[in-house]
Amino acid sequence: MTPKILITRRLPEKAFELLKPHCEIDYYDRETAIPRRELLKRVAGKEGLLCLLTEKVDPELLSRAPGLKAVSTVSVGFDHVDLGACSERGIVVTHTPGVLTETTADFAWALLLSCARRVVEGDRFLRAGRYKAWGLTMLLGSDVHGKTLGIVGFGRIGRAVARRAKGFGMNILYYDHRRLDAVAERESGASFASFPDLLRRSDFVTLHAALEAGGAHLIGEKELSIMKPGSFLINTARGPLVDEKALVRALQSGRLGGAGLDVYEKEPRLAPGLSKLPNAVLAPHIASASVETRTKMAALAAEGLLDVLVYHRRPAHVANPQPPAPIPS
Ligand code: GLV
Repeated sequence: MTPKILITRRLPEKAFELLKPHCEIDYYDRETAIPRRELLKRVAGKEGLLCLLTEKVDPELLSRAPGLKAVSTVSVGFDHVDLGACSERGIVVTHTPGVLTETTADFAWALLLSCARRVVEGDRFLRAGRYKAWGLTMLLGSDVHGKTLGIVGFGRIGRAVARRAKGFGMNILYYDHRRLDAVAERESGASFASFPDLLRRSDFVTLHAALEAGGAHLIGEKELSIMKPGSFLINTARGPLVDEKALVRALQSGRLGGAGLDVYEKEPRLAPGLSKLPNAVLAPHIASASVETRTKMAALAAEGLLDVLVYHRRPAHVANPQPPAPIPS
């Protein structure tokens, strides 16, 4: 029997083409997020759900689709999916790690450099007609080369950020709940530091940790208060890792030199005051948004769904801690 699936957003053609011959597709073929009510209605009767991080996959949704066998999210993060609830119902959850590593690391660097060297401020200054003559003290930023970079979360993306930091001659620190072995650590060019030590010593702190249960506000008032005065915070991971109101206060007071953010605590809303701050560079969650990478992510998500529903084999990237076994046929 041809499996019935719901796709919640317009996909790159290549990914859609992968699914078309094998599935009966209910396609929300739009660039905007599917309204929750419509999602709940259309998921009924489906065996597969191909979704984005904007769709909360929770017990309410699962109760509408008792025949659901696979949820495939076009994202590396899966904090929008209730894994426990999926596992209980034997639903395999797949995601898209690996293919976005380098693109996301590039973007963390784009934010870091933009903040440190005031690129966005400079652009606004020029467009506003305020550039009248070259000035010795105009828009002074902070050097990047030779400074200390603190990487919080040293998985694939954190390590890709470290590789780039070597080219800038930086002193690289990392913190992760799992320390690398000595060989891997040497190869990475980074030294392990405790979390508080990393915060105290880094000129730039960049977050690459997943949002796990209880992981909200990894960076709160206390952590911000021990960061080096004038240092910068970069977040391309997940918004709730940072207490955004406390961050606004630290940026307003000048305690922090700046922040480069791609993700927000209550995305897509911003904490009051954040959008007014000249020392914040704000991007709309686009760290993995290159044509090449988004195409690969969508194709990988499509393959994950097909693996479960059509080929009855374990997908390459299963998010469930103890994947429901066997893969349903
Ligand atoms: C984006 O944030 C992702 O998780 O892929």
